[in-house]
Amino acid sequence: MKLGILGCGQMGETILKGLLAADAVVPETTALTTKYDAHEQELKERYPKMLVTQDNNQAASQSDIVILATNPQAAKDVLTSCREAIKGKIVVSICAGIYLEKLVGWAPESKVLRVMPNTPCLIGEGTIAVSAQGEAKSAIPVVRDLFSNLGLCTVLDEKYLDVFTALASSGPAFAFVILEALADGAVMMGLPREIAARTTAQMLQGSARLLLETGEHPAALKDQVTTPGGITTAGLLVMEDGGIRSTLARTIQKATNTSNMLGEKER
Ligand SMILES: NC(=O)c1ccc[n+]([C@@H]2O[C@H](COP(=O)([O-])OP(=O)(O)OC[C@H]3O[C@@H](n4cnc5c(N)ncnc54)[C@H](OP(=O)(O)O)[C@@H]3O)[C@@H](O)[C@H]2O)c1
Repeated sequence: MKLGILGCGQMGETILKGLLAADAVVPETTALTTKYDAHEQELKERYPKMLVTQDNNQAASQSDIVILATNPQAAKDVLTSCREAIKGKIVVSICAGIYLEKLVGWAPESKVLRVMPNTPCLIGEGTIAVSAQGEAKSAIPVVRDLFSNLGLCTVLDEKYLDVFTALASSGPAFAFVILEALADGAVMMGLPREIAARTTAQMLQGSARLLLETGEHPAALKDQVTTPGGITTAGLLVMEDGGIRSTLARTIQKATNTSNMLGEKER
């Protein structure tokens, strides 16, 4: 498959590396674009067999599927400038807060879809949503198959993408704060930092997998750890004193509302 990534920054390159690791694309038929000379040069050095250019039109022309991965502010200019080159092609926007209605207006002759990825796509452990409307829905299977190389890919109505963005795309940042804080506590109690970080990461991964594989309610799994008058209950009470549930729930509420507000501004 010939893939073009327009705006190969942090997330574009994350997707690229994930797809290369999964053998879903080959360097010879992959094109990348960027805006500035220094970044173009870096990408050329890292990916010598790929077309790396600042010319979005050239990259789009030689691609079957185009991923729009620029910052949201650049999306309109980039899409409208290569309207001819993307005619009839699948265009996947990963830009947060830019709704399909807008994207379709900028590329009316393309099949435009939205995909919301996250940074664990780098290691094939991503959480990804794909949305489309109208005729572009016919491209969902191809796009879902492509992104399934990077993790769990769910087809969602666009009305859920703001909350999905908050939970899954911003989510790794929230998860790392939680991970770091738990590890800090262990360091404070004397555990070497490296062991604390690795132990916390494995504990969180194991807990998440346990839930996914057993399908049990999180409260039931929590109760399995707590014995009357025990160590875990003592810790849980401190969490509740700190209002951790409402803090985390409101984190998602605030991030969702912010995604929605940015999207409405772009409308
Ligand atoms: N980061 C995440 O976790 C995440 C998650 C989900 C969705 N997203 C979405 O992914 C998109 C990119 O985010 P990011 O974090 O990867 O930002 P980023 O690192 O700033 O990447 C944006 C890239 O777009 C390039 N660019 C800007 N204008 C361009 C133009 N006219 N032509 C070609 N390339 C152009 C920039 O090139 P230069 O480097 O040369 O300036 C940069 O490499 C955003 O729309 C964001 O909403 C990000």
